[in-house]
Amino acid sequence: MPYSLLIHNCGQLLTMVGTAAQRPLAGLQLRDWPILENAFIACKNGQIVALGPMAALDKAQVTADTQVLDAQGQVVMPGLVECHTHLVFGGNRAHEFQRKLHGETYLDILASGGGILSTVRATRAASAAELLDNALHHLAGFRQYGITTVEAKSGYGLEAETELQLVQVAQEAGRRQSVRVVPTFLGAHVPGPEYKGRPTDYLQMLVRDVLPQLSPADVPFVDIFCEEGAFAVAEARQYLMQAQALGFGLKIHAEQLHDLGGCEMAAALGAVSIDHADYLTPAAAARIATQTQGQTVAVLLPLVPLFLRQERYAPGRAFIDAGLPVAVSTDFNPGSCPSKNLWLALSVACLKMGFTAKEVLAAATINAAWSIGQQQHCGSLEPGKRADLLLLDVRDYQEIPYWLGENPVRSVVIGGHLQ
Ligand code: NIG
Ligand code: FE
Repeated sequence: MPYSLLIHNCGQLLTMVGTAAQRPLAGLQLRDWPILENAFIACKNGQIVALGPMAALDKAQVTADTQVLDAQGQVVMPGLVECHTHLVFGGNRAHEFQRKLHGETYLDILASGGGILSTVRATRAASAAELLDNALHHLAGFRQYGITTVEAKSGYGLEAETELQLVQVAQEAGRRQSVRVVPTFLGAHVPGPEYKGRPTDYLQMLVRDVLPQLSPADVPFVDIFCEEGAFAVAEARQYLMQAQALGFGLKIHAEQLHDLGGCEMAAALGAVSIDHADYLTPAAAARIATQTQGQTVAVLLPLVPLFLRQERYAPGRAFIDAGLPVAVSTDFNPGSCPSKNLWLALSVACLKMGFTAKEVLAAATINAAWSIGQQQHCGSLEPGKRADLLLLDVRDYQEIPYWLGENPVRSVVIGGHLQ
């Protein structure tokens, strides 16, 4: 059978293929992956089957049935993996943006009944069809940015029925278009308004009424927001252990605004990722890297402190140097990051967290794939992986985080199909 798709004349083919088997890339590995110059990549049945220098192309496999794309000497890379979003929600929070500009903080707005709770009201008021339309609109936006896999959290229902509906909407949105959707259950975002002051009762309700209705095969991860105004470390620990006993993988939002110890707690339970980590110290990061043997990924979200007008950004450079695997994501959501521009997030990760260009590109592809359990399918250019590929409009990978806020994507291929 001939190649179904061939991309040739790739000036730089960014492989993201690390030397560490069966681990997210950490330390020097994050920048120590090969770039093939003047190269090709070929696909069959939606999968990558061959890549290498142009001289090694097997021309016998290129026939009239092969779709041929000419990269014209520019950069080709794996589709971006957006590993932390709150995809499904109603309404928006433009009014609160104004309050923030007048000096109110994220936690002030949440404590006054706004913030997450204002999106909960809008989400409960929306129909399933509206929520699905919104999610499809956002997925189309992600696809234009070259994002080919999106993690999608629930968390704006905060009652059993609506939380289940949000998971179903994410799944349905995944079926209706080509970007792959990986749902995460974040019913434990903050205690539902009906459970004000009773966080433990709320978590018990989730364990009793919601988690048994979800299958880890379809919804692989359970997440919780561990923060003042959300859930305490001890509450989060108990809940995550119960979720783990039901077969779910674990994630946590922690050390976003305070150093409470949520990241270390979740990592000790074997969490696949610890997200935000703006207040995680380099010493704690080093302990986590050692204790988890490099299996837990810190998902850093540089557009969030930018949008919340905070000075403090996760010390990404120190995390990398401490050997902690890191990924970068937008955190797309209506409150703390209403942007789907992961390229912008990569630039801000370089500027504010100390990443280099090679590091940040691996963080948004192969390490992002690890952080959502998708490393067998996407995130690097290897035979057997899904043919999720980007043809970019730049000649050198160093231009990618340099063109601040631009979208470098010329063409997107998902599962071997040009979009
Ligand atoms: O990841 N930090 C908690 N949750 C989201 C924000 C949700 C919201 O403000 O609506 C986050 O930043
Ligand atoms: Fe988030």
